[in-house]
Amino acid sequence: MTYNFDEPIERRGTDCFKWDALQAMYGRDDLTPMWVADMDFRSPDFVMEALRQRCEHEVLGYTMPSEGYWQAVTTWLKRHYGIDTTKDNLHFIPGIVAGIAYALLALTEPGDKILVTTPVYPPFLNLPKKSGRKLVCSPLRITNSRFAIDFNDFERKIEGCKLFIMSNPHNPAGTVWGTEVLRKIAEICERHHVLVISDEIHADLTLPGHQHVSYSTVSEAAQRHSLTFMAPSKTFNIAGLGSSVCYVADADLRKRFFGWLNTFEVANGNIFAFTAAKAAFANGEEWLRQMLDYLQGNVQALDEFLRTRMPKVKAVLPEASYLAWLDFSAYGMTHEQLKDKFINEAKIALNDGTTFASQGRGPQHGGAAYQCCFRLNLGCPRTILLDALNRIAGILS
Ligand SMILES: Cc1ncc(COP(=O)(O)O)c(C=O)c1O
Repeated sequence: MTYNFDEPIERRGTDCFKWDALQAMYGRDDLTPMWVADMDFRSPDFVMEALRQRCEHEVLGYTMPSEGYWQAVTTWLKRHYGIDTTKDNLHFIPGIVAGIAYALLALTEPGDKILVTTPVYPPFLNLPKKSGRKLVCSPLRITNSRFAIDFNDFERKIEGCKLFIMSNPHNPAGTVWGTEVLRKIAEICERHHVLVISDEIHADLTLPGHQHVSYSTVSEAAQRHSLTFMAPSKTFNIAGLGSSVCYVADADLRKRFFGWLNTFEVANGNIFAFTAAKAAFANGEEWLRQMLDYLQGNVQALDEFLRTRMPKVKAVLPEASYLAWLDFSAYGMTHEQLKDKFINEAKIALNDGTTFASQGRGPQHGGAAYQCCFRLNLGCPRTILLDALNRIAGILS
């Protein structure tokens, strides 16, 4: 079967955050949304069919993960990432942000230092700060149009930290870290007795030509000190169902974290999350292959557009997923001017780069460093992407 990712699908009026929250978030609702990280593609037919079939039963009482669900999850993890596990090392998680919040509460204390590398997905900044932990930021460098960890800074900052929260691949620009970098992180974290959360929500979306490496697989140390979060939510565009899993290889760590989840009953799961995840992991290979080819086409289209129409934009293009980091500094406009022009002239909603870094901690940590940066979501039909890019180019010339 050939899937059609070119078809525009009307999402307005479906209580869809990306399209229906524009007025609330950007002050007008006539924008093309290139912000929230979900895709405008139809969720796969085999997932929709499984949900429909489950609805036919018409009793939606309390549920539990079936053996079939665990089989689908463990097979996927083994086949794609070489993670050899049974369900005993896994726990259902209702969403990865929730999972990270639970891990903070279960494994750290108020006042503990939590390390992140910036720019990064904003909840990584907000969860530690809002839960009374101390956020420590190690800024990434851009080298050869890729984000890279500054290991001198990283090693300095990790001193005294309890936990490092890592986006692997990295949001905001889908940087695939690779074995060497992950091994180095594992060696440093082990030496400093730091736990690692590896958020691998974007892993399945690693684009052709790149290879995702799951953190816990790089060394025994990494396996000992890490929690890995995975999900079918971005992969199959079912984020609204809140379906993720956490993998913990180490028995003590598992006891502490899974024990906490079970005590507080915050990760019990729901019928649609289990049904959709099982169908997605069991049947998703071909859909995913075609979808990744399409996304790769969008990345190429963006790259070509930037070279020919907006050569002054400095871009970090995704190696995984559908998020690109665009730096408009060379156009000589302020943050406010750029924002105003994108919203009120180009009528495009982008993510504001300053939200990917901690505010008010000096220019190297703060949003100040990313005043002219914006994140663009290219998970949409190519016509919509090109139309949006044309409108952006129009206000910059
Ligand atoms: C790195 C990362 N983690 C987590 C999430 C959200 O996960 P969830 O919806 O499962 O909470 C996102 C969504 O964009 C993300 O990019």
